[in-house]
Amino acid sequence: MFEIEKINTAVLNRVECPGTEKHYKITLPDGLLPDCLKDGKARYSVMIETFLPIAERIKKFQVYEDDVWVITFPKCGTTWTQEMVWLLNNGLNFERAKKHSLEERFPFLELTGALNLIGGDSVSDVENLSRPRHIKSHLPPMLLPDQVWTVKPNIIYVSRNPKDAATSFYHHYRNIVGYDGPKEHFFDAFLSDNLIYAPFGNHVLDYWKLRDELNVLFLTYERMKRNLRAVIDEVSLFLGKSYSKQDVDALEEHLSVESMRANKSCNMDALVEWARKTNYSEDRKRNDAKEFRFIRNGNVGSYREDMNEKYVEQFNDYEKKITADNDFSFNM
Ligand code: A3P
Repeated sequence: MFEIEKINTAVLNRVECPGTEKHYKITLPDGLLPDCLKDGKARYSVMIETFLPIAERIKKFQVYEDDVWVITFPKCGTTWTQEMVWLLNNGLNFERAKKHSLEERFPFLELTGALNLIGGDSVSDVENLSRPRHIKSHLPPMLLPDQVWTVKPNIIYVSRNPKDAATSFYHHYRNIVGYDGPKEHFFDAFLSDNLIYAPFGNHVLDYWKLRDELNVLFLTYERMKRNLRAVIDEVSLFLGKSYSKQDVDALEEHLSVESMRANKSCNMDALVEWARKTNYSEDRKRNDAKEFRFIRNGNVGSYREDMNEKYVEQFNDYEKKITADNDFSFNM
């Protein structure tokens, strides 16, 4: 079904590191795309070698109509959205949310195929969840299970502007994936669509195309930052739930950056600790200041702290190319 081709570019070889190596271009011909995406063009996505054994399994994965998926390109606010969605779909049960980590409540479908050395079988973990299942994924539509298009589970997609997403991804690469190189090399790999889950443009535009489907809700990180309350109301409506003003006040407070950073159930401290032990170079282990928190800056525009003018311009051009011939904008 898929055409699979190893990628071997200089720009990519410079950023390969313990947590992510051996990248492949996985292509699906136009004829095999769901009708709602067919436009005469094949789609491809970059994935790493550990994804290859699970690609077909995910295509054949059983989907239920009460599944709730949160899907994003990495670093676009997945964790934040998962916590909101899980609580809204579980009667705002803060006690249960505190007892069970987000990874347990809302597991990452293709984790085994997205981070080397993590081990386990993330697809089976999701298969075995009790319903309604809450599923995290970064997959583009072309790699989703076939049944998604017939069963139509709830899908909440979140996009983010590429400058902040790439900057956040750089910190993730450094602190989770074990990348030790310069940020410029990382930005070059992002801009040339060589990183896992690339191309960013097709990812967001294909979900944008689905935005009018009744089972799809399209959100942006920027809107969540601007007016979280309005987004909470929209997600509640989407899930068929209704909460009092006081309940929504409590949820809004629970979802603040400060509160989530202090919340062991969703701040990913265990993942950061695992990464330090597994992926860091000896040099990094010795000199690491241990300052990284998964819930890091949590702002719009924080790319300015890491990106020089030359890269800001290149990213502006990259954004313009993505939005050139459509009604999508990164300012929504
Ligand atoms: P920054 O690195 O820019 O701070 P993901 O969950 O998809 O990996 O996305 C991580 C990004 O979401 C990080 O961005 C993180 O700080 C931000 N984030 C997580 N929780 C948040 C919250 N409650 N409010 C705002 N941003 C949050």
